[in-house]
Amino acid sequence: MRQKTGMTVVVTGASGRTGSRVARAAQAAGLAVRAASRAEGFDWADRSTWARTLQGADAAYLVHPGDVGSAAATRAVGLLAHEAVSLGVRRLVLLSARGEVQARPTEEALRESGADWTVVRSAWFMQNFSEGPLVEGLRLGGELVFPGGEVREPFVDLRDVADVVVAALTAGDRYVGQGIDVSGPRLLTFGEAVAEIAKATGRELTYRPLPAAEYGAQLAAFGEPPEVVELLVDVFETLLDGRNAHLSDGVQRVLGREPRDFAEFAAEAAAAGTWTP
Ligand SMILES: NC(=O)c1ccc[n+]([C@@H]2O[C@H](COP(=O)([O-])OP(=O)(O)OC[C@H]3O[C@@H](n4cnc5c(N)ncnc54)[C@H](OP(=O)(O)O)[C@@H]3O)[C@@H](O)[C@H]2O)c1
Repeated sequence: MRQKTGMTVVVTGASGRTGSRVARAAQAAGLAVRAASRAEGFDWADRSTWARTLQGADAAYLVHPGDVGSAAATRAVGLLAHEAVSLGVRRLVLLSARGEVQARPTEEALRESGADWTVVRSAWFMQNFSEGPLVEGLRLGGELVFPGGEVREPFVDLRDVADVVVAALTAGDRYVGQGIDVSGPRLLTFGEAVAEIAKATGRELTYRPLPAAEYGAQLAAFGEPPEVVELLVDVFETLLDGRNAHLSDGVQRVLGREPRDFAEFAAEAAAAGTWTP
C-alpha cells in the first residue's frame, strides 16, 4: 500500500459521530486535520465559507449532515466537490449509505465533479444505539421504538468506518473511483441488538417495532419538516425491507482485519455509562 504522508485533510462533520472518529484516525495516521464544522466557520448551507476551509488542503472527508439521499445533500456535495477540485483539492472521500438507492444521485454528483473520488457506503451505525436520537428512549424508558421490524442488519462500528476512510485517503490512488461497502461482522435484528445491550448493561430493555409511516408521524409531531419525514419514511421502508440483510467485506478488504462485533461495542458503551438512567 502506497502511503502519502504530510497530507492535510479537511474533515467535515468533525464534531459529529463519523467526522470526530475520522479526525482521530487521520491524526493517528500522521495526517494534518483541518476540522470543518460550523464552529470552525464552515457551513454546508453557505458557499462563501467553503473556499477558506478547502484552500491548500490535499483531501477532504465529506459527510452531509442531512440524510445522504436528500436533495440538499446531492446539491451541496456536487457544488462543494466542484469547488474543491477547482482549488486543487482533488482527493475526496464521501460517506454514503449501503444499499440506499436514494443516495445514488449524491454519489453521482461527486463523480461528476471530476474529483479523485471514493465512496464509503456504510451499513447502519452501531453508534445509532449510543449517540443520537435513539439513546434517550433506551436509557430512560428502557425501550427502543423503531421501524426496523424483524429485519436483520449488519451494524458497523464507526471506528471501523473511520479506519476505512483514512486507509482510503492514505493509499494513494488504490481506491480512487471505487465504492467500498462496509458492514459489521454479524447480522442482527434490532431486537437482537437491544438484547446485546441489555446483556451488557444488566438491564431489562425491550424493542418495539412500529410501521415506518407511524414513526414518521411521530417525527412530524416533534417538528421534523414534511420533506425530511417523507424521505426518512421512504428510506426506512426501502433500507429495512430485507434487501440489505447481508454482510459486506469492505473492512476486511481495506484493513486486512475483521470488523468489530456488536458485543464489543455494547460492552464498551455500557461501561462508559451510555445507557445508565
Ligand atoms: N445513521 C446511520 O446508520 C447512517 C448509515 C450510513 C450513512 N449515514 C449518513 O451519515 C450522515 C450523518 O453522519 P454523522 O452521523 O457523522 O453526522 P452527525 O453525527 O449528525 O454530525 C453532523 C455533523 O455535521 C455538522 N453540521 C451540521 N449542520 C452543518 C452545517 N450546516 N454546516 C456544516 N456542518 C454542519 C455538525 O457539526 P456542528 O453542529 O458542530 O456544525 C456535526 O459535526 C448522513 O449523511 C447519513 O445519511 C448514516
